[in-house]
Amino acid sequence: MCASPMQSIPQQQPTGMSQLVKVQDDAGASLVPASDPAESGRWLCSQLEAGNILVFPKTPFSFPQSDREFLLGQKQTNSAFHKNVAYRPAEDRITGLDKTDTPEAARLRAILSGYSQNVTQFLENLLSPYAGKWKLDFASFRPLEERGRTARLHARNDLPHFDSFPTRPTNGDRILRFFTNINPAQSRVWVTSQTFETLGPHFAKSIGLPGPRSANPLANSLRGLAKAIKLPGANRSPYDQFMHKCHNAMKEDSAFQQTCPKQRWEFPPDANWMVFTDCVSHAVLGGQYALEQTFLVSRKAMVEAQRSPIAVLERIAGYPLSN
Ligand SMILES: [Fe+2]
Repeated sequence: MCASPMQSIPQQQPTGMSQLVKVQDDAGASLVPASDPAESGRWLCSQLEAGNILVFPKTPFSFPQSDREFLLGQKQTNSAFHKNVAYRPAEDRITGLDKTDTPEAARLRAILSGYSQNVTQFLENLLSPYAGKWKLDFASFRPLEERGRTARLHARNDLPHFDSFPTRPTNGDRILRFFTNINPAQSRVWVTSQTFETLGPHFAKSIGLPGPRSANPLANSLRGLAKAIKLPGANRSPYDQFMHKCHNAMKEDSAFQQTCPKQRWEFPPDANWMVFTDCVSHAVLGGQYALEQTFLVSRKAMVEAQRSPIAVLERIAGYPLSN
């Protein structure tokens, strides 16, 4: 249990609720119940795969104060920084800015690049079973206040959901996200509900699972053509189709949103946390100024592969849902 983030505990704990796992104490000393790095890595991966939230009360790598101050200085009203900013490590490029040829944009890119590298190096050492078995996805800077932020229904962050990226299908690989609250005064507030192992079967029933990949040569050549002309979503597997539908169905389902069991978490200034957002139903209720790095981790790297969302769904379907 993390001493700093606060938890509101329901009277009777429903099944499949995420737990907070404090990985380090405030001085940075390990709290992992394992004697060597390999055992520690397996234990931490198993906690993540169970749908738990790993928390570091202080940023566990170097993050210069001058960089934090630069990010905090980017006011919401500054039109050049009014959106979430994404950093694409593979291209060393930022998106989400109106102007990318300014000194401010160059500084922002350098800070996000450094953050991305530091998180990656830190997790390569910490989560040894996953090291080298992930695709480095985007990092982002989130300068907007989340409380009261307006967005279209499917883009709302304040409604519990599992993540699914329509333009970056994972084909059953996992979405691991590492967050840092750089706000010096304000906590970032999350709510989580039950994990995919509990909720997935419910939504599989209500939405229905996609059928097996067709062996029809015509369907296959049409899919090949769609890929060749880079049609968005052409690589989407039956698993990705389901996860995208599930993401939308959760946000559209007002009865689910109102009645699902919820736990509230507060991540104080300088807290860092990570979670598989494809198996932890999560929502962001408040907070401003966070950084985040996403990894797409191979499903083959899981230490408890049967707990993965794709494994849960394939057990129900009785056939493969990957491409
Ligand atoms: Fe999300």
